[in-house]
Order: sequence, then structure tokens, then C-alpha cells
Amino acid sequence: MDQLDRTVPEGRLVARRTVLEMGCGLVGLGLLAACADDDRATLPGPTPTTWTAPAEPLRFPEGFVWGSATSAFQVEGSTTADGRGVSIWDTFAAQPGRIDDGSTGDPAADQYRRWESDLDLMVDLGLQAYRFSVAWPRIVPAGSGEVNQKGIDHYRRLVDGLLDRGLHPAITLYHWDLPQPLQDAGGWAVRDTVDRFAEYAAVMFEALRDVDATWLTINEPKTTAMVGYAGTEHAPAIGDLDAGLAAVHHQLLAHGKAVEAFRAVGGQGSIGIALNLMPVYGAPGAEAAASRLDAAENRLYLDPLLRGEYPDEAIGSAAGQLNADRAAFDALVLPGDLQTISAPCDLLAVQYYGVAGIDKNGTWLEVFPPSPAGWQQVHAEGLYEMLVRLTDDYADLPPLIISENGIPDPDAQGQIEDPQREEFLRTHLQQAARAVAEGVDLRQYYAWSFLDNFEWARGMTQRWGIVHVDYETQRRTPKASAQWYSGVVKANAVAPV
Ligand code: FCB
Repeated sequence: MDQLDRTVPEGRLVARRTVLEMGCGLVGLGLLAACADDDRATLPGPTPTTWTAPAEPLRFPEGFVWGSATSAFQVEGSTTADGRGVSIWDTFAAQPGRIDDGSTGDPAADQYRRWESDLDLMVDLGLQAYRFSVAWPRIVPAGSGEVNQKGIDHYRRLVDGLLDRGLHPAITLYHWDLPQPLQDAGGWAVRDTVDRFAEYAAVMFEALRDVDATWLTINEPKTTAMVGYAGTEHAPAIGDLDAGLAAVHHQLLAHGKAVEAFRAVGGQGSIGIALNLMPVYGAPGAEAAASRLDAAENRLYLDPLLRGEYPDEAIGSAAGQLNADRAAFDALVLPGDLQTISAPCDLLAVQYYGVAGIDKNGTWLEVFPPSPAGWQQVHAEGLYEMLVRLTDDYADLPPLIISENGIPDPDAQGQIEDPQREEFLRTHLQQAARAVAEGVDLRQYYAWSFLDNFEWARGMTQRWGIVHVDYETQRRTPKASAQWYSGVVKANAVAPV
């Protein structure tokens, strides 16, 4: 399937569950403003491209860093080992009906115990970097107070293991596993959590002060806020849009305070936040709704970070907006907050999975073919559009990295021969290279994921790895896409088929 030459198919309504998973979740809940009738529009979609990948390989800049990514709760297992506390995902996964196959974070891909052989496999594949996350409940088991040295020791060993092998560590501090005691006190809906996060972040900066790492403060604040607080598909399953918006502000503020802590510690390396961004396409007559949805999906995060202001358009009662209490949101934003949030970072991490469509009533539409994940509308050129748009729109944009990009296998069994993943990665890397050739400052790329793992509400049924995991034996087998990716890394270039 050549996505670059595709004409846009007829728009279809995106299922309610899909929208919830997408991190919007608001049409189905009646929270996204003005969603109404089923008028199945034919979308014009984005301007049809005239670009086709050239016959010769597209090269990346010298020093470009190639890796793959995971997160703690999704791969580690060993959820009670060495003093780890309970996270909101332990609690959520233990509730009947929350996870498709009833799986929990244990054993997941058992990486807490198998990390050495996993790092060896990365070396075998020629990868240069590994993005992983630190489990907050391993470091501060109760969310505040006592620090667990055994937790720190684990990540120190992991980082040293990476450095010994010549691999670059990219370390995410928060990939959704909030300590349960903090949730019991209100979680991201309350301001206190901001300070708890900054304290935990400072512990990690201090422990790895000497390491030239890429630090990512928070992974996808939108997903936590909109799927976990506004929606109920993810932990902590609150189902309240105002709580969701409070979670937006508090996560962004927590990011800003962590950056302050990083500068204060004087650690080596660089720091930024990881945002899931998506181009939004409007049906005919839906340009205004598309602009408002873009505000809700993208600018609600980008503008405070890069301009020091929240966009006016994101919250309100018009189609595409988040139908929340604007005054309540504004009241959360205290003097100085936006300054903290917009303190300069060393990088911005983009997580790119696909695009969104919307009609004039505010209903989400499917404008490009969904992957087996349902919520993911695959359109490689959207990555190019997003990278160029960031560069054009934000004067103070720091260098970019792509910290996640990928596609799941067609079924729960998974596969070793995965041509559709190779096609996905190739077309997206071509679009990334195209953006670089046009002046976008892109420095690193991480395929999601290194391993098949616990895919949140989908449990172990949805496999995103470039490496297959046999969950009976925990045996790892690189998929064909991993071998192909290995060639890209070696050449520092992506070739056409
Ligand atoms: C992203 C998450 C990551 C994984 C991929 C498929 O939103 O950050 O943990 O679930 O989606």
C-alpha cells in the first residue's frame, strides 16, 4: 500500500471506543462539543502530494542517533521486586474487565530480569540508543518520602550496561505508572503531584548526573489527561473532563519544574518532553472545527511549552473544542506557571502515529486506513507535515527527536515476517528525511517498540515490537523489520524498496 500516492478515501465515523483510545474520548462521552449527526462526509483530506521518494537512498545527518523504545510498566514485570511500590496501572490492571486478556504488568516482557541479554540483542542489531522509562514506584515507592536505593541501583546498572555497550540512554521519567498513593491524594488532577514529580526527577538527575543521557520528562501528557482522567480507558479511569484539563496543566507544570531541577543539579545530557502530535484534517466546511480540534490535540501542549500561553481555541462549546469549564481551567494557572512551563528545553520529542479527521459537527472521522490498533490512521506524509509545521510555527523550537513511531502486528499471535511494519517504518523515515532535507533539525529516531509488550488496555494481545516475544518462554526473535531497520541504522539512510 503506497500511502504517499493514496487518494483520500471516503470519511468514516470513528468508533466511540476508538476515539476514547485516541486520547480524545470526548465525543463518545458527550464532552467534546457539539458532536451530532452521522453525516458521512467525503473528506478532501490534506493537499494531495506531488512528492515521491527518490530512487536513491535518503541520507540522515552525520551523528543522527537510531534506537528503539519501551516503557517500564510495559516490559519490566517484577512488579513487587526490590521494594517497588504499587502504581495506578497495577491497580487498574487488577480490576476485572479493564484489560482485554486480563493480563497485568507481570511478567510483561520480564525485562527487569532480562535486561542484559536485551541490551546484547540491541548491539547485535546494531542499534545505537535505547529509550526506556524509570518506574517512579521503584524510586519513591510511596510517591513521596523515602527513596528506594534498590530502585536507583537497578537503573544505574541498566544505564552502565548501555554505556558499556556504546548505547545511548534516552530516559523517560514518567510513562504513566504514577505511584498509587499519589493517585489516592488526587493524582495529576491536584497540584501537589507537581512537586512530588519534581522531587522524584531530582533524585534521578542526581543519581545519573554524570551520564550524557537524553531525558524525557513526561510521556504524552495528552493521553494521560484525556484517556485516563477525562476518559476511563486508561488508569486511573476518572471520567471527568475538568479533571483531565487539570491533569494537562499539572503535567506540563511538572515538566517545567523537572527542567528546573535538571538545570539545578547541573546534569550532563539534554532534556525535553514527549508529545503525541497529529495533523488534523477537516471535511468540507469543517475548517474551523479542524482548527479547534488542532488546538485541543496539539496546541494545548505546544503553545504553553513553546510560547508560554494556552491557546484560546482549545476549550469551549463549538465543534472540535473540549467542552469544559474554561474558568475552572484558568483558575488552575497561577502566576509564574506559564513561565516555568516554557523554560527553554534542549529538545522536543515527537511521538507520531497518524492523523485525525473531523466534520463540521465535531465528529471524528476516519480519513486514512486504520492500523490494527483502530485509533491509528496511518498517513506517513502527516509526519513530514508535522515536523515542517513545528519548524515554521515556533520560533523558539529546540532540536526535534522522534521518540515513538510504529505499528502493531495484525493479530495477537504476532509474526516474524512483518512486511507491513517495514513498509510503515520505511515510508515514515522517508518523510522524516524529506523534512530534514528541507531544514528540519531532527536529531534522533526511536522505533516503537523494541519488544512486544503489555499494550495498556489491549494487554498482551497487541504486539508493537520489532522483536517478537514468546510469552511462554520469553524467547526473543527479531522480526524481519528489525533486520531491515538494522540496515537503515548501518547506512544512516533509508532506501526505497
Ligand atoms: C503510545 C504510548 C506507548 C505505546 C504506543 C503504542 O501512545 O506512549 O506506550 O502504547 O502508544
